[in-house]
Amino acid sequence: MSTAPSDPEGRAGSALRPVPETALCTLYHRAAEARRPDTVLRDPKAVELVDRHDFPFEARFGRVVPALARLQALRTAAFDREVADFLRRDPRGTVVCLGEGLDTQYWRVDNGRARWLGVDLPESVELRERLLPAAPRHRSLAASATDPGWLDEVDPAQRVLITAQGLLMYLPPEEVHALVARCAARLPGATFVFDAVPHWFNRLSQAARLREGGCRAPTMTWTIGSRALLADPRTVPLTARHGWFIRVLALDLPDRRARLVRSLGPLDLRRRPAA
Ligand SMILES: C[S@@+](CC[C@H](N)C(=O)[O-])C[C@H]1O[C@@H](n2cnc3c(N)ncnc32)[C@H](O)[C@@H]1O
Repeated sequence: MSTAPSDPEGRAGSALRPVPETALCTLYHRAAEARRPDTVLRDPKAVELVDRHDFPFEARFGRVVPALARLQALRTAAFDREVADFLRRDPRGTVVCLGEGLDTQYWRVDNGRARWLGVDLPESVELRERLLPAAPRHRSLAASATDPGWLDEVDPAQRVLITAQGLLMYLPPEEVHALVARCAARLPGATFVFDAVPHWFNRLSQAARLREGGCRAPTMTWTIGSRALLADPRTVPLTARHGWFIRVLALDLPDRRARLVRSLGPLDLRRRPAA
């Protein structure tokens, strides 16, 4: 395996900026949960990747907090279920993964016929291409999710599911709203699945007090409750009834009917949350 030229210690991925580095932290936790006999997420590819990748996960991110690892895996499982349901309805549909990072969802739910487009920042795509094998019908695009260019790569004649797992909270609110509006305009009929954090979680990150395991979470800038998802009277108000911790939601475009897919948490360090 080659290593990043920018990495003086020769460890791939250790020179990433904070937001791209969260992809390694997420992978680390997902793999830890996947190793458990009572796991909520079977993810052998993630386990293999962590075992094979010469990166000091524990030194960088600390010891895995099992409850946190399970929470992340539950979030991933909620996204997987939405993608699997979509592919059952539209086996030749297109799945667009914004901020795909090192997610191994393709290996968990691909049906042998779907098309996949991962969109991530250049350094994350470079890392992904170095660490994960090429996969049939999967393509990675080095671009920002907030750049309209990636929409040119999606055939609007196909059924489309867009996912944004662990991404929107790191974007400025106006960029989130513009992104959803753009998807609604360009891909009518698509569904947009995303997760959102509450105000208090956001404030903790801004005060730099939030650690994901040993991984200090970068500043989060967007939260679902701060404004309606779009300045549009048809937007469903996403309120406390949707849960107070991390929420996974599906938004039908362009009419913006929102559905709660899963509400996660609270994080209880003593008890493992139910699968
Ligand atoms: C917390 S990680 C989540 C990775 C993956 N979705 C998962 O759940 O394992 C956040 C990812 O978003 C990516 N990202 C951050 N800003 C982005 C942007 N403007 N456009 C596309 N990807 C972005 C990072 O590079 C990183 O891969």
